[in-house]
Amino acid sequence: MSIKPGRFISFEGGEGSGKSTQIKKIAAMIERNGIQVILSREPGGSKGGEEIRELLVTGDAGRWDGVTELLLLYAARNDHVEKIIKPAIAEGKWVLCDRFADSTMAYQGYGHELGRERIEQVHIASLGDFNPDLTIIIDIPVEVGLKRALARRDGEDRYENMDISFHQRMRDGYLDIANHAPDRVKVIDGNGEIDEVSERLQQQILATFPELEI
Ligand SMILES: Nc1ncnc2c1ncn2[C@@H]1O[C@H](COP(=O)(O)OP(=O)(O)O)[C@@H](O)[C@H]1O
Ligand SMILES: [Mg+2]
Repeated sequence: MSIKPGRFISFEGGEGSGKSTQIKKIAAMIERNGIQVILSREPGGSKGGEEIRELLVTGDAGRWDGVTELLLLYAARNDHVEKIIKPAIAEGKWVLCDRFADSTMAYQGYGHELGRERIEQVHIASLGDFNPDLTIIIDIPVEVGLKRALARRDGEDRYENMDISFHQRMRDGYLDIANHAPDRVKVIDGNGEIDEVSERLQQQILATFPELEI
């Protein structure tokens, strides 16, 4: 008997938008459906990916120029996809990932202004047409997200230290990404209590995957 392939869902949004909080709740919901869930994150997610992550999240904000950063991110992503994500999906597991390729599009493409095309070319050169089945963007005003993220303080603050206009370009970029891929990418309002936001996410997951129950 052949195994039904799993699904791949990515969670996107600015710092403090609630990705790490919400992904755990959605993982629990999917597990209640008797499905095995793999929780992962980018950059990182695999042994090699995590090693590259260290280069990206520590040190000065100006440590890497935009193109070098782009290639490091896709090197980490390729390792993660080949070693972790694709094998898990083939085994029927659902992979939930805290950030994926749209983060690179938002940060490097829009934030660092490398442009959509540059990022798309690197994506296709490494991953071809591989993409999540569903991408959820948790949208929140930049100031609200940064306030939450600063209150959290975890040492990985290179991106959080960048100026407000960078974060604003990124937020606008995420909304533009959703406009370019409306079937795959859904924007969810991240304002309000954690449980309210979670309810919105669950409704979207159920709409995209009607085989699930809450
Ligand atoms: N809806 C919310 N309202 C208030 N605080 C929140 C909400 N969602 C998350 N937080 C808190 O804000 C901080 C950032 O949330 P987190 O999930 O880590 O965001 P991200 O992973 O997107 O950076 C955490 O301390 C978290 O507990
Ligand atoms: Mg997080």
